[in-house]
Amino acid sequence: MKQTVNKLFYDIRRKFKLTPILKELEEIKRRGVPLENFTALEMFGGYGDMITKDCLQYVKSLETWEINPDCEASLKKHLPTAKIRIGDSYAMLKEMKTKVDFLSADTALSDNPNEHFTIFPDAFKILNDKAIIMLNTVPEMHPDVLKKDAAEIRKKFYGVEDPANIPIEKMIEKYKALCKENGFEVKWWFTTDRYFMYPLRKARVKKRLVQLVLYVERV
Ligand SMILES: C[S@@+](CC[C@H](N)C(=O)[O-])C[C@H]1O[C@@H](n2cnc3c(N)ncnc32)[C@H](O)[C@@H]1O
Repeated sequence: MKQTVNKLFYDIRRKFKLTPILKELEEIKRRGVPLENFTALEMFGGYGDMITKDCLQYVKSLETWEINPDCEASLKKHLPTAKIRIGDSYAMLKEMKTKVDFLSADTALSDNPNEHFTIFPDAFKILNDKAIIMLNTVPEMHPDVLKKDAAEIRKKFYGVEDPANIPIEKMIEKYKALCKENGFEVKWWFTTDRYFMYPLRKARVKKRLVQLVLYVERV
């Protein structure tokens, strides 16, 4: 019941372009990026019905990868024109020979303490000279949900003492450094909160999920 209500609420927000992903795609366009000419890759396709089906409407073509074969039918339904591959995204990223203009890593938060961190540096090898990178980041995590291994990984990746509270600007320093090491420069960035009214629901939700959009150019 709760899931159906949530889905209905999400669909209403989608209709009025009020979901975080649609606000982001509109903002990217407003900044002059010709998304309609972009080839996109979503490394974590899931069932395709949360953000990937919206991305598909904005780009020239889209490919998506997903490890769970049970998602395939739903991916085909929601992404009828997309190229779909079932398998391990990290392995496919290493093998990929073509390049894209838009890379999204809509990683799940619960199953991988490495978040999206291990897509780097391979991700840079598949980017065209001007590209959008879209990542799920988690600046705030309640200690109850931050496991010890994940805390250590976050400390190391972002170079911070407190892995439960990482200012977005501090995160950006890391992504800028990564880009620089791999021959790219961050031209601009912005973030959007993924959870509806997070500040009011903080105690229950226990983590702040923020989608980070980076526009990068090869130096
Ligand atoms: C947050 S969901 C993606 C939601 C999706 N983008 C959408 O719009 O509906 C994350 C997905 O990543 C998948 N996943 C986790 N590890 C993976 C891996 N190593 N390779 C490919 N997919 C993986 C999970 O099975 C899950 O379906």
